[in-house]
Amino acid sequence: MGPVVVLLLLVGYASAEVAPSLGDVITSRDQTRLRELFRKTPIDSLTTAYYVSNGLRILGEQDNSKKQTCSYIQQHTPDSTSLDTIFYATSVDALFDCEVSYSSFEKSLKDSLNSERNVSELFYIVSSLTNIGSKVDQKLLSPSKLLDLAEQEESILSYGQAFLTASLLTDGDLTSLMDTVEDVAVQADESPTSLYFEGGIETTSTAITGIVRLGTRTGNRPTLSALQATLFGKYFLSIKYTETISEAFYVLQAVEALAHNKFFVPTGVTLVNRLPINIHNQKLEVHLTNILNEPVPPSDVKLVTIESSSGDKDTINKSFTSESDGITYSYLLFPQVGSPGGYKVILSTEPKTDSPIAQLVHVELPVIVSFSVVVESAEISIIERDQNVAVKTVPLQYPTTSQDNLSADQHSKVKMTFQLLNKQNKEKVNVHQTFVRLVSAHKEEIYFVATPTNIGIYTFELDLADAAKEFFNSQSGTYEMSLIVGGMSVENPFSWDIGSLNLKFPGTPQDETSEELEYRYKPRPEIQHLFRAPEKRPPTVVSFTFAILVMAPVVLLVPVWLLLGGNILNITVSGPWAIIFHIGLIGIFGLYYLFWVQLNMFQTLKYLIILGGVTFISGNRMLRQIAKYRSA
Ligand SMILES: *[C@@H]1O[C@H](CO)[C@@H](O)[C@H](O)[C@H]1NC(C)=O
Repeated sequence: MGPVVVLLLLVGYASAEVAPSLGDVITSRDQTRLRELFRKTPIDSLTTAYYVSNGLRILGEQDNSKKQTCSYIQQHTPDSTSLDTIFYATSVDALFDCEVSYSSFEKSLKDSLNSERNVSELFYIVSSLTNIGSKVDQKLLSPSKLLDLAEQEESILSYGQAFLTASLLTDGDLTSLMDTVEDVAVQADESPTSLYFEGGIETTSTAITGIVRLGTRTGNRPTLSALQATLFGKYFLSIKYTETISEAFYVLQAVEALAHNKFFVPTGVTLVNRLPINIHNQKLEVHLTNILNEPVPPSDVKLVTIESSSGDKDTINKSFTSESDGITYSYLLFPQVGSPGGYKVILSTEPKTDSPIAQLVHVELPVIVSFSVVVESAEISIIERDQNVAVKTVPLQYPTTSQDNLSADQHSKVKMTFQLLNKQNKEKVNVHQTFVRLVSAHKEEIYFVATPTNIGIYTFELDLADAAKEFFNSQSGTYEMSLIVGGMSVENPFSWDIGSLNLKFPGTPQDETSEELEYRYKPRPEIQHLFRAPEKRPPTVVSFTFAILVMAPVVLLVPVWLLLGGNILNITVSGPWAIIFHIGLIGIFGLYYLFWVQLNMFQTLKYLIILGGVTFISGNRMLRQIAKYRSA
């Protein structure tokens, strides 16, 4: 291989862009749901009129909202100072031609371009002018001014609106705006499976729509890779179940931009249905579509590998057949994959022509191969426990019910054996769910799991002595026996009534007493919160005596003073000062008490300075009066 060939291979490889599959699309069911959401929304504002009419337009149903939205905008003239309402009204009129004349707004809109405006206002003005058929050229608004403003505002929403606005300008150099696309795109936040901008659906939708429209306007591919476009697409798909019309509008606006452009159209491979593959449904059918579930240019869809749930990989590398609808690709999977079970199929797609769709690699889809199961060689025996010999054996034939009445007691075992086969190829198979059910005359159901001893060979053994208490509560009587077979890959799950068994257990059944039953189903007593009970107090006589003893000295104080010759009478000679002094003194004691119970030291000191001052001065005056009286 010469260097030229290597170079060609490299170039060829580099030109086919690789992206993951969207995995999901806005399916026709989603579209019906979203249409309903818009239709049932009452038009009660110009904003709603805008969201509803445009949402339905993208869903191909614009005529359904025409009458309603037109009549609303005919009756509600936007406020000439509110640029967004002018935008909403003129957009609806541009879509439907409601015969409302907005030409009177033209001059004021053009004038308003001269005053200081932010990007979102410029977006409303330029869009409104375009809606009413008035062109905006670079003399009215230059692309560089838009870019400068967006850079100042530093928000992704501003960039998105700047891109949208620029795409409406009739002339001017848009190169520098195109150059910022890459820087804007790298500011996206990443989740494990998607890309989005901080600010959510409005910001992300505005930015992606702006990028696509700017590219369409300039005719050049914006610097956004197929991988980025797909990851943004996955973000919009994650919001498709919204119940909010503004969000629904923003999702649709963005997916429309991603579905209809010349640069990057994310695609998704989806299963046409979830039916299992089997003899009746042999084809694996997938849809290859854009994000709006519409056809894309033909691709070569390949089945690369098939992986079984146990991890066995089969390399296939064969192409799907493309059906005439341009969307469906099918592959005859059966009987190539005949053995039942869950599989992972890996697909790849490669566009056949140069087109905006990417090459998808490693598209993983779950597939189930199902089969009809038949029961064969079934028989039931009663085994004598000690000698381990069958005392009676009854062959069973699915789906008939045996009329033999089998009896067993604690000295015997009941043993059933059967084989499960794939009806198609008669191979023995295991299935996920195999149960034996016994139903008593009282309709009590007891389930046992039948386990395979070898692939497809099942044995069910019931030792009555062991099982008596644990499962049967020693309840003797007739039990109806059935075999239940089902599972993920079983096409014909069934419950087969085998026949009846007469079981005899020693001992008497333990009836649940009515008390037990009542206890099980009765409401429990309400739980009341209990506060801790206060400790017991001493008898009132004790506390009363104690209080009197404590207070006694106070009562005794005055007579004792008199007895000791206290000169209380001096108060009269010192006049009012004595009274103030004593009030002050009592006040200080009161303060001392308060210091104990509530005041802190600083508060106490503050009051003490006042009280102390008064007490000091009055005490001083009082002593002087007394001295004067004595010396007189
Ligand atoms: C743009 O200006 C309008 C009107 O002054 C204001 O309501 C709006 O919040 C501004 N937008 C931004 C993004 O600053």
